[in-house]
Amino acid sequence: MLFSNIKAKWIKRAFIMFLSFVLTIPAFAQSGESASSNLETMLIVVLIFVLIVAILILIIGLYLVSIIRMILLEDKKQKVLAEGKEFVPELEPSLWNKLMHKATDSVSIEEEETVMLDHDYDGIHELDNHLPPWWKWLFYVTIIWGFIYYLVYHVFDALPLMQEEYDIVMEDARVAREEMMALEGNNIDENNVEFSDAADVMANGKAIYDRECVACHAPEGQGLIGPNFTDKYWIHGGSINDIFKIIKYGVPQKGMISWQSKLTPSDMRDVGSFIMTFVGTTPQNPPAPKGPEGEEYIPVDQNQTSEEPVEQPTTDTLKVAMNK
Ligand code: HEC
Repeated sequence: MLFSNIKAKWIKRAFIMFLSFVLTIPAFAQSGESASSNLETMLIVVLIFVLIVAILILIIGLYLVSIIRMILLEDKKQKVLAEGKEFVPELEPSLWNKLMHKATDSVSIEEEETVMLDHDYDGIHELDNHLPPWWKWLFYVTIIWGFIYYLVYHVFDALPLMQEEYDIVMEDARVAREEMMALEGNNIDENNVEFSDAADVMANGKAIYDRECVACHAPEGQGLIGPNFTDKYWIHGGSINDIFKIIKYGVPQKGMISWQSKLTPSDMRDVGSFIMTFVGTTPQNPPAPKGPEGEEYIPVDQNQTSEEPVEQPTTDTLKVAMNK
């Protein structure tokens, strides 16, 4: 009765453990960022799971073995008692003791004579023990391991060597960085866009301009169907924010289409930045730009604030203040 109670308790505990483990799997999976790392965490979770199950099975197996031994012993005892003799349980070494004996191959003190060498150093004797088998086993394992390692890494190239591993990690980081940059690029809108004259921005801006905008705004921004970009006059404002907004939403009723479905936000920033560099240039071919349209745009200097400049105290003014 007691026995079955204990068993039921353990089964319950094991079940709860199993359940909580299974429930944590999705949490594991969600913490991963990309699909590949998701897959990796899932794989690790499954491996850990398999390991735990294997250990559980081993424990249960050992438990069963001990129960069978107990039953056999009880059986023997009943038989001996039935014959009217006294039951003396023979002390069979346990499995652990047997294993220890095998692993150490130690000679008991009583049998030391058998391995004693005939050296005698002032009463100190030397025993000719074998190398401990556990130590030799480890050595064999390293040989096998070395062989497997050689095959896997150098013959079949199944796994990357350290240098390759490093390169892979660096490549992953590069891709991740690019993804992040692209994501940041896609966060650009007319409120947070900033003018940039970085070389890659200009190059990309020019490429887009030559491909998409030239037909209406002319190769050097002289203007054709659309207004020119070379003077200070803008119909919709000349800040990068105004320009970005016009490129993004267009002025469809006037013939300027909306580009947000064809260009990414960072592309629109690039081409917007690029056309701003036309301001103040003198186109050569055709020389006469389209006449000014809209209002003159005077850029606001970011550094200049509306506040009055604060007068720095000089040593003289400080002296005056102290004398007061
Ligand atoms: C089909 C012809 C056409 C194409 C192609 C075109 N535009 Fe325009 N664009 C126009 C017209 C027409 C206007 C004037 C809209 C108005 O009057 O409000 C304009 C106006 C603009 C303005 C506002 C100018 C101002 O003075 O405020 C900007 C900026 C602009 N375009 C940029 C671009 C860019 C960048 C491209 C290429 C991605 C492009 N446009 C392609 C026809 C075009």
